[in-house]
Amino acid sequence: MDARIRDILIDRDQIADRVEQLAERIMRELAPEADAGRLIVVPVLTGSLLFVADLVRQLPVPFPIRPVGVSAYPGATTRSESASLTSPIPDGIAGKSILLVDDILDSGRTLALLQEEFNKAGAEAVRTCVLLRKEVERVADPACEYVGFDVPDVFVVGYGLDYDGLFRNLPDIAILDVES
Ligand code: IMP
Ligand code: MG
Repeated sequence: MDARIRDILIDRDQIADRVEQLAERIMRELAPEADAGRLIVVPVLTGSLLFVADLVRQLPVPFPIRPVGVSAYPGATTRSESASLTSPIPDGIAGKSILLVDDILDSGRTLALLQEEFNKAGAEAVRTCVLLRKEVERVADPACEYVGFDVPDVFVVGYGLDYDGLFRNLPDIAILDVES
């Protein structure tokens, strides 16, 4: 594919198994909110695109999907510097139960910002689901109820995660060699 793609860290079968487990737990805990018309699933674009597509197809209850955009680091860098919204927080959040879905929790800035914004918009509850949680010292420490995998402090791509906009389409999660 690309010489910079090194070992696969988490393969497609492991991802599929874990997404199924997360979906089962989310169903057990949040189906009543959905049935009461309160649940809104909020994918954080663009990294959560593949994850959320697999996840929501295993949640057989009614809920709207309202994506938000956050830019964490522009261009070809591997360290986030600040997080800012690239789309407004959707309307109609007051009294709702929000499930934020992101690809990875790294410095924590992105999810801390979103939790704050959705709380400000009057959400009754804000819960967070990430596929990956990096083992790093976080700048911010947002609560995260649903975590797929803890991963070491390496730069990963695939299954939605990108480097400079590329490699989101890899079906597995692989380590990117950022030196070469
Ligand atoms: P945070 O604000 O530092 O927690 O960064 C979160 C965002 O940075 C995620 O939504 C990802 O888009 C991106 N990110 C962090 N680590 C990686 C990685 O290893 N590969 C690809 N994207 C990453
Ligand atoms: Mg992201």
